[in-house]
Amino acid sequence: MSNRNAFLVFLAGTLASLVLFLALTWDTHQQVAALTNADKLSEQVVAGKRVFEKKNCNECHTILGFGVYYAPDLTRAYARIGAEGIKTVVLHPETVFANSFRKMPNLGLTEQEATDLVAFLEWTNNIDNHDWPPQDRKYTQSPDQRRLQGAGLSPGAAAFKAQCMGCHSIGGQGGSIGPALDQVGAKYDAATIAAYIAAPTTINPNAKMPPQTNVSEADRQAIGEFLAKQK
Ligand code: HEC
Ligand code: HEC
Repeated sequence: MSNRNAFLVFLAGTLASLVLFLALTWDTHQQVAALTNADKLSEQVVAGKRVFEKKNCNECHTILGFGVYYAPDLTRAYARIGAEGIKTVVLHPETVFANSFRKMPNLGLTEQEATDLVAFLEWTNNIDNHDWPPQDRKYTQSPDQRRLQGAGLSPGAAAFKAQCMGCHSIGGQGGSIGPALDQVGAKYDAATIAAYIAAPTTINPNAKMPPQTNVSEADRQAIGEFLAKQK
């Protein structure tokens, strides 16, 4: 191939890529409002975003992939730990992460700031980002996905996997927001654990675990029986 032909191939390839790139960029921008549910950007969501900036959560976390890679990406935090979970984490990180190797400082948020942050993270949770960025494996699964993996387990173990492992671990598997529960049966019996799930402070007045109000009565009994055997 002559130099001239090589140059033409280069030019055609570059121009074609450029046109494609610009067309796809334009197409994406057309869809941003729909993909992000821009109509749901309420004042509270905006207030939550301001808190996120003021407290510089990006110093450790990423959101939509932007930020620092020390702590988990927060785009889907709402799906993983829910409104009460987020509030507990941001208001009492020193208790929640007492057993973790990585720490989150108490940033002195007010109750109102925490509520606004929840609204903001609920909004980001609904952004259709085509699952990008990939989430920290340990933090990715929704309760439904976890429940599916529980097939073949006892009802108590399956319900525990589905609804508690985002925060608790057994045998080294699961989250570290709450304590590992490998020895919990030595401390509480089944009925006490079932009661603890719905209203932790009735069992331990200082408990920082948010009441798990979405767990059904039957699941609480089954989880209680399963956990009482862990000792
Ligand atoms: C100095 C670093 C640091 C800052 C600043 C920080 N965090 Fe964190 N955060 C962490 C670490 C580390 C973890 C995970 C600890 C673990 O899992 O062991 C975490 C965990 C979380 C979680 C739980 C994530 C999940 O999916 O389980 C949420 C929610 C959270 N942080 C929200 C926030 C918000 C909101 C802010 C700003 C107000 C913030 N964080 C500021 C370090 C930080
Ligand atoms: C959002 C995170 C989170 C979720 C979800 C969660 N927990 Fe907890 N749990 C905690 C934290 C944090 C503590 C520590 C409470 C304290 O002592 O202040 C805790 C404590 C406990 C304890 C007491 C442990 C002890 O040694 O005193 C039990 C039992 C427990 N959780 C069971 C469960 C069960 C069962 C589920 C599922 C139905 C569940 N938790 C879901 C965060 C969570």
